[in-house]
Amino acid sequence: MTKPVNGFSKFSKSEKIAWLAENYLAENKKAVSTLQQYWNDDEKLQKLHDEFIENTVSNFYLPLGLAPNFLINGKHHVLPMAIEESSVVAAASKAAKFWSERGGFKATVINQKKIGQVHFLYTGDFSKLEKLFKNIEPKFRESVKSITRNMEKRGGGILEIDLIDKTQDLKNYYQLFVKFDTRDSMGANFINSCLEKFAEVLQEEASKVQDFTKEENLQIIMSILSNYVPECIVRAEVSCPVNELSEDKNMSGEQFAEKFVQAVKIAEIEPYRAVTHNKGIMNGIDAVVLATGNDFRAVEAGIHAYASRNGSYSSLTHASVENGIFKFWMEIPLALGTVGGLTSLHPLVKLALDILQKPSASELMEITAVAGLAQNFAALRSLTTTGIQQGHMKMHLMNILNQNEATENEKEKMVEYFTHHTITHSSVIDQLEKIRS
Ligand code: MEV
Repeated sequence: MTKPVNGFSKFSKSEKIAWLAENYLAENKKAVSTLQQYWNDDEKLQKLHDEFIENTVSNFYLPLGLAPNFLINGKHHVLPMAIEESSVVAAASKAAKFWSERGGFKATVINQKKIGQVHFLYTGDFSKLEKLFKNIEPKFRESVKSITRNMEKRGGGILEIDLIDKTQDLKNYYQLFVKFDTRDSMGANFINSCLEKFAEVLQEEASKVQDFTKEENLQIIMSILSNYVPECIVRAEVSCPVNELSEDKNMSGEQFAEKFVQAVKIAEIEPYRAVTHNKGIMNGIDAVVLATGNDFRAVEAGIHAYASRNGSYSSLTHASVENGIFKFWMEIPLALGTVGGLTSLHPLVKLALDILQKPSASELMEITAVAGLAQNFAALRSLTTTGIQQGHMKMHLMNILNQNEATENEKEKMVEYFTHHTITHSSVIDQLEKIRS
């Protein structure tokens, strides 16, 4: 049994690795060199990465791929995507090319408000709390002047502060419900700093109120932004005449559209399917969110909550055919930033934003939503026509070959062979063995 370790964060990097190797990886003779293999030779760059988090022992690589030919609101983009799943970038590129020949994607930011809450308990009369709130509202704003000054210069700041009575749902529970405009920053630190100040003001002012009796007690529970942002919505869409949809001689545009719309309808009413359907959308969204240094956990949590806003988990995308026109669209909440956080710190994040021509937060919302819509289009197109495995296994072939340490020459032969044969794990292994013997 390994003993608990004290003061681990104070160990040097080598000490941490030595401790790990001794206590958990004694059997693995390559453990230390595997970790070291991923260190960057550039010491300054490595130090930067070491300091992103606590107890860094190595770097964890993800491929950064490019999906070209995205025509969005009339402008061409190449999308940087950080993702490990083999078929995602290929699918995005294919969908982008397809729609670039049919007018491209349209995307619009509908609104861009972020939300934060101070959660507190109050045991007294609501009218007294309301009176207190009205009296001290200017004090809330006053208390954060030094924090909001720069944000206000950029046109953002605090939009609304409301007092919400939640006692129907939980005894004595109230909130300060605050809306923010954080411009091009994701705004988590800004929002949380403001909320913590509001909580201080509320607690302090409550303690001064003369007509609060002893029983009328106010207790702050916590102050934090919400990653649910249903007022930070972006819409992405594509449309074209139905007869321009098919690229397959065996299926007309009408037949394709009918099947496609049906597949979306299934995801609208069937949660088991909706989860996988939306997972495909997140393949595109997360990859851009990660590459641009944004918080994919926040984005995921917010989007999935939005997908269940009507009481049942449902598809994020929708499709229709009306008067011979196919339409495919999605509205999702996306709180993203292009300044602050990792954006100017991580060299590859900076580069990803340069690749996207230094977008504003709202432009990045549009691009990211389009990546999700494109991914869903590509997935549904495969699912309703050839099936997903054909494309998926084609991309996965290289993973199987690498797992089996195929040489470049073997890879070439295998790729050629599987241009005309069905790829499964066992067929690849069999063929590799044949080549090798
Ligand atoms: C795989 O990563 C994503 C899909 O399963 C999405 C879908 O089923 O729509 C192909």
